[in-house]
Parts: sequence; C-alpha cells; structure tokens
Amino acid sequence: MRHLMSPLDFSVEELEQLMNLANDIERNPKKYAHACDGKILATLFYEPSTRTRLSFESAMIRLGGKCLGFASADNSSAAKGESVSDTIRIVSCYADICAMRHPKEGAPLVASLVSGIPVINAGDGGHQHPTQTLTDLLTIHSMKGRLNNLTIGLCGDLKFGRTVHSLISALVRYEGIRFVLISPDELRVPDYIRNDVLKANHVEFEEVTKLEDALPNLDLLYMTRVQKERFFNEEDYVRMKDFYILDKSKMDLAKPDMLVLHPLPRVNEISVEVDNDPRAAYFKQAQYGVYARMALILTLLGIEVQ
Ligand code: NCD
Repeated sequence: MRHLMSPLDFSVEELEQLMNLANDIERNPKKYAHACDGKILATLFYEPSTRTRLSFESAMIRLGGKCLGFASADNSSAAKGESVSDTIRIVSCYADICAMRHPKEGAPLVASLVSGIPVINAGDGGHQHPTQTLTDLLTIHSMKGRLNNLTIGLCGDLKFGRTVHSLISALVRYEGIRFVLISPDELRVPDYIRNDVLKANHVEFEEVTKLEDALPNLDLLYMTRVQKERFFNEEDYVRMKDFYILDKSKMDLAKPDMLVLHPLPRVNEISVEVDNDPRAAYFKQAQYGVYARMALILTLLGIEVQ
C-alpha cells in the first residue's frame, strides 16, 4: 500500500506518468467516468479548505466514486479528544482511500503508519502540501511545455507557506532550475529548505526583498498569501500582509510569456486587475488540480483504465 506524504514519494519518472495520465483525463473525461465505481474517498479536514477538499471530492465523483468526511475538527471526534491514529483506524473500515489536512506537521504521516487504506497528505501545518505540488507541476508542464530550464520567482510567505516548501523540493530534481526567493526578511524559507534542499542539490538561488527587481528575469512567478493562521501575533501579520501586491504596473515589468501561479486563496497579494492578463494562470491552475487528484487517486488505488 502506498501513501503520499511528500512530493518526493514519487520519482521523476512516476511524476511524468502521473502528469501524462492527468492530461489524458483532461482530454478524455468519459473514459474515466466509471473507473472508481464502488470506491469511497474520505476527506478528513482538521483545518479550513475550499479548493483542496472540494477538488478531491470532485475528482472522486468524476471517477464514479463517492465521498464522505468532515470539513473541520469541531465536527469530528477530535473535538472529544480522539487521536488521529484512532480516527484513521476507524475510517479505514469506511473508505478505500483518504485525504487528510491537519494543522500539526506530521499528523498525516502518523495516520499512515496505522492506516489500512492509502493516506494522502492534503497539507500538514507549515510543512508540506504535495497534492498542490502535483497541481503546480501539471500546470507548469501543460502551459510551459517543460519542467526544466526555468527561472522561478517564489514570492510572499516563504517561511510558513507549505506549498512553497513542497514545490521547491519537487523542482530541484529538474535540470536548469533557478529560484529567486522574494520575501521580507522575517518570512524567508526555513533553514532546512535552504540547506538540505537547495544547497544540498547545488541549485542556483538568490534571496531578495524587492519584487520589481526580480520580475524582468522570471519565466514563472508563484505568489503566496501571508499565512495568517501560523503567525504568533496579529501585529506581525498586519505589518507583513500587504508587503507584496502584484498589479498591472508590476506586470508591465515581466516577460510577455511569464506565467503567474498562486495556490489560492488570494487575499491582497494579486490585484484583481491582473486576472484578465493572459499570463494569469491561477484559475486554470485550480482546474488542473482536479485532473492531478484524479490521476493520483487512480494511481494510489492501482486502477488502470485501458
Ligand atoms: C494553500 C494551503 O492550504 O496551503 N491552499 C491550497 O491548498 N490551495 C495555500 C494557502 O492557504 O495559502
């Protein structure tokens, strides 16, 4: 049985297969409409979510399967004090596969150790968010035609943003990737990403504060929200929340084919006037999230569609 905790759980070759499968699902949705008939996905969300939970449910329903679960810890037995390990043992009797989001780093991993069904990490605290990374890789691969030779700007909350940590970890395995890490000093990437991921893999990167200086050289800009829920005090959040606002005038500095991605939800960091720019890819990215999760569910359940 296979779980997904980190994007590194899949080799580069396996990721390639997964993206090919996702692209085939996009082209031929009918072919897959009954692939998961009789299967059940459990979504165990101990933290708020719109895209991740609903796109998992949409993915399973589009494959012919059904879903059950809870959307907040308050609605589950966690509120009575039940442990994640006990909950997953029970859910293993009710479902065939599960997606879990939890505010504590490592909670889905703990669940996977006792689970009778595949567990997918749907975001654990400020740590990892591997299915967002599958979504991001699929979006970049489909829209740019490659995952190598790219200069990628990551902007915003690089400290607490788990999507950023997972995306960097996944992309260092491709040739010719250069990162420009754009953040206020207080929100720079954690040391383990800088040392154990970037430096250990000899990946070229620079850390800067000004978005304007970085923009002209980027092939891709990945914007992120300042992660309010992970701040220790409101004052720091308020000081940092509007540090970056991507607007039309900043977009004028960028290459004509630079893609703008954002895992969403957006707060103020991308002005709505950018939404109509052909380079704004964040809504399309959410659509790719469904195909990526459909491909992932099929892969973890070992279902092949001829
Ligand atoms: C992200 C997350 O939950 O980490 N959202 C998502 O899953 N698309 C990003 C965020 O909340 O800022």
